[in-house]
Amino acid sequence: MYSTDLRTDQEKKSADPQVLDDAKLWDTFQSRIDNGDVIEAKDDMPEKYRQTLIRQISQHAHSEIVGQLPEGNWVTRAPTLKRKLILLAKIQDEAGHGLYLYSAAETLGRSRDDMVADLLSGKAKYSTIFNYPTPTWADIGTIGWLVDGAAVTNQIPLCRCSYGPYARAMVRVCKEESFHQRQGYEIVTVLAQGTLAQKALAQDSLNRFWWPSLMMFGPSDSASTHSSQNMKWKIKRHSNDELRQRFVDATVPQAEFLGLSIPDADMRWNEERGSYDHGEINWDEFWAVIKDGGICGKDRIRARRAAAKDGQWVRAAAHAYAQKQETKERVA
Ligand code: 3HC
Repeated sequence: MYSTDLRTDQEKKSADPQVLDDAKLWDTFQSRIDNGDVIEAKDDMPEKYRQTLIRQISQHAHSEIVGQLPEGNWVTRAPTLKRKLILLAKIQDEAGHGLYLYSAAETLGRSRDDMVADLLSGKAKYSTIFNYPTPTWADIGTIGWLVDGAAVTNQIPLCRCSYGPYARAMVRVCKEESFHQRQGYEIVTVLAQGTLAQKALAQDSLNRFWWPSLMMFGPSDSASTHSSQNMKWKIKRHSNDELRQRFVDATVPQAEFLGLSIPDADMRWNEERGSYDHGEINWDEFWAVIKDGGICGKDRIRARRAAAKDGQWVRAAAHAYAQKQETKERVA
């Protein structure tokens, strides 16, 4: 399973046993974390810390890469040239995020090839949100507004993650995600202020993406297996439910401003808490999408496999070129 040991047999054999579960190392390491130290790639770290980071960062990288697909669906059908250019730039940003994140995970000793192989074999997880379809142009707006909005809410605290390479990668990612959120909100604003049919398109998209967006924050705190250890290690700074609540509180007024309704009959302002109460999330749907890939899971993996196969000659050519350059330099 993805959550268990991610190393190849060779990596397991060559791992330094002292780095594995030495109690003294754990204590020293925890003191560094408690002091607010940033952990770097060559520092001693408990094996579990390393593995949990590889798990989270690679899952995050896969999400960025697979996340290009629902939007790619609209590149040829964007309503204007300007919208098309913005969409292309956004999709390229997501590819860049995937690459920073794979690089950050590689500093922990797992190769990008192995991580990608896990994605292509269906072994690795990526965010459930990207297994929902994008049948209308309004979905491109909603993805920016809600999906990138949820992503940025979740990821800003990761800029202070205890692992340096991940935290540093997140700074630029968050700046770009924040721009993506605004461009999405602008698309939805234009639709919501347009004709009745355009407003209906925006509302329908909000209806379909609201609950899956809340699921992006992960299971409720009581069902989250990794939260408590990851918060102790300052990989996570806030729990899944805390960040989900932050997103709800920021997003409900944005929907109200547009005259759109959040599809939750139980959503109401709680004066005492100074926050919105929301209805129960359908966790059966969340776990089912993780397990079976939901509506689009099979298509997403098929598309990634085709991209890997079609791009094989480019990788081979780049490799051959690098080898040629190396030989030239050696001879010179
Ligand atoms: N989709 C798929 N799997 C999910 C999930 C989701 N929305 N939420 C949780 N899970 C999985 C976890 O990976 C874990 O599975 P595992 O043990 O088999 O690996 C299991 O459900 C239990 O969840 P936990 O709460 O215990 O897991 P975490 O402590 O890792 O918290 C998380 C989950 C909040 C997603 C955390 O991993 C995180 O903050 N990750 C970094 C951000 C990220 O990956 N975001 C994905 C979206 S990227 C994106 O949005 C791109 C942008 O362009 C829109």
